[in-house]
Amino acid sequence: APQWLIVPAAGRGTRMRAACPKQYLLLGDAAVLACTLARLHEAFPEATLLLCLDGEDQWFHESMVPFARWQRLDGGDERVDSVRAGIDWLAAHAHGDDWVLVHDVARPCVTVADLHHLMDAIHDDPVGGLLAAPVTDTLKRQDSDQRIDATVPRQGLWRAMTPQGFRYGVLREAFTAAFEAGFLMTDEASGVEQLGHAPLLVTGRSDNLKITHPEDLALAARILSAQQDTSRL
Ligand code: CTP
Ligand code: MG
Repeated sequence: APQWLIVPAAGRGTRMRAACPKQYLLLGDAAVLACTLARLHEAFPEATLLLCLDGEDQWFHESMVPFARWQRLDGGDERVDSVRAGIDWLAAHAHGDDWVLVHDVARPCVTVADLHHLMDAIHDDPVGGLLAAPVTDTLKRQDSDQRIDATVPRQGLWRAMTPQGFRYGVLREAFTAAFEAGFLMTDEASGVEQLGHAPLLVTGRSDNLKITHPEDLALAARILSAQQDTSRL
């Protein structure tokens, strides 16, 4: 199991166009944030959670956190800045070979089985890896008129999801190098790749969606209830 969980939850959810950030919208009777933390806690009850929130967040409540050990941190302007707050905090707390799992608060449908599957796949690895799913759609590249310029072969292409799990020392080096180079990491793996490492792609369920657009909320609710019905958590 990972020693540390970093959950970036400082986003504003602008594409969702809701009255509050999407992590506080309700899935059934619980906020998205509470649902996501519940799954992580069920899989890794002993981990310490670093929860990165907007400093002006008016919706968070401590009752949403099921972990015995957790720390609230101030997030930043971009996702990478929010995760960095966790990486920096860990400098005084983590060992270089500790496992750190980073998981988007906007992915409440990740299953306990996939969380365990990821850790099982990487636990002997010196670097780490992430949940991902092979691309199933045919991919098109556009020209300047939004007409098709080319069909991109999807062979060997994956969708990167979270959690992304890496040794603390590797993550710290990746964040330091990216910051110095002015490279914007859109996920942890991209920073680790820049160091010359090859993170492991661990096949995860394709229903681990990131709630992004308004129609995604009802979809996530249906995915959660279908997972509960089949108790394939
Ligand atoms: N995130 C964060 N800090 C930011 C931006 C994003 O912690 N400054 C987090 C979000 O809360 C989310 C994850 O990073 O868990 C993925 O980001 P995204 O899906 O883009 O969420 P938002 O930035 O909130 O949404 P939008 O881009 O539509 O505004
Ligand atoms: Mg965003």
